[in-house]
Amino acid sequence: VRTIDWVDGAIELVDQTLLPDECVMLRIADVDELIGAIRRLAVRGAPALGVAGAMGVALAAATTDDPAEAVTRLRGARPTAVNLAWGVDQAAALLPDREAVLKRALEIRDDDIAACRSMGEYGAALVRGLTGGAANVMTVCNSGGLAAVERGTALGVVQTLHEQGALGEALALETRPLLQGARLTAWELARMGAPHRLVVDAAGPFLLARGHADVVLIGADRIAADGDTANKIGSYALALGARRAGVPFVVVAPETTVDMATPTGADIEIEDRGGAEVVSVRGVRLAPEGTGALNPAFDVTPHDLITAIVTDRRVVRLDRGETLASVPLGPRRVNRPV
Ligand code: MRU
Repeated sequence: VRTIDWVDGAIELVDQTLLPDECVMLRIADVDELIGAIRRLAVRGAPALGVAGAMGVALAAATTDDPAEAVTRLRGARPTAVNLAWGVDQAAALLPDREAVLKRALEIRDDDIAACRSMGEYGAALVRGLTGGAANVMTVCNSGGLAAVERGTALGVVQTLHEQGALGEALALETRPLLQGARLTAWELARMGAPHRLVVDAAGPFLLARGHADVVLIGADRIAADGDTANKIGSYALALGARRAGVPFVVVAPETTVDMATPTGADIEIEDRGGAEVVSVRGVRLAPEGTGALNPAFDVTPHDLITAIVTDRRVVRLDRGETLASVPLGPRRVNRPV
């Protein structure tokens, strides 16, 4: 099942708010419904948001005479993952030609599938080279097939390692406040039959210090020109822990997540999702009534804490002084049959 697809004139997507209890497909034929689905994280993850953005423009083109206003609102539905704005811009550039818009949206879907397969190959080869055997991997949030169309980014590398018989164990951080690690990553790891355990977020750096993982693999929502990387809150703490423990820290994301127009991490807008998600869990209040909260959905890991950035077209070894500007794009790597 694809996480998001275009079926008979509408978007069909997995409602990720209901996982792991139920796997329900939503059919979305209206841009405002799509904006709502993006805001409540029914569809989430940078690559999936890119596809949703482009398909949303196709919906707007098909259902409104003047799609410009709806397209602007869609573009701003969530600010941090660059893929949403990118996907919207790619499709909107072809307005008012409805057929061309839809064709571009479907191309972006297909390209994402190919990119994820290629990242799996590049990433698994890097991890095998770094660790020299079956790797124990730590990850945060969800960067699997649910965050893309199929397979995903960092978790796609875990899947490829597993298929190659090169995965020891995956340790997934639960990822407060919305528990993408516990609800989504654990669900995906179980479905792929990969050995895995769940750990609380605060245990991540300590478990690295005690040698429980050979590599940290994370996805990305936006990678600035200098390599600073915005990803789910908790990534920065893991990077600090990984550096202290001497564990490689690897970012895996498609080229569409690299934003050379954003010079550094300080220039990345970080979404604050409001206190309600922090003071309660799935509708059950934890904190005293009236407690305020900060809720940054993402943090920024400085490039000097990142060992390598793996994309669908290259591996950039920041630990060896390479930069996004200095390493040219290479070919996509074809997914080998397993
Ligand atoms: O708020 P989300 O669930 O959309 O955040 C997604 C992430 O930050 C993921 O960690 C991910 O790596 C980026 S998408 C592959």
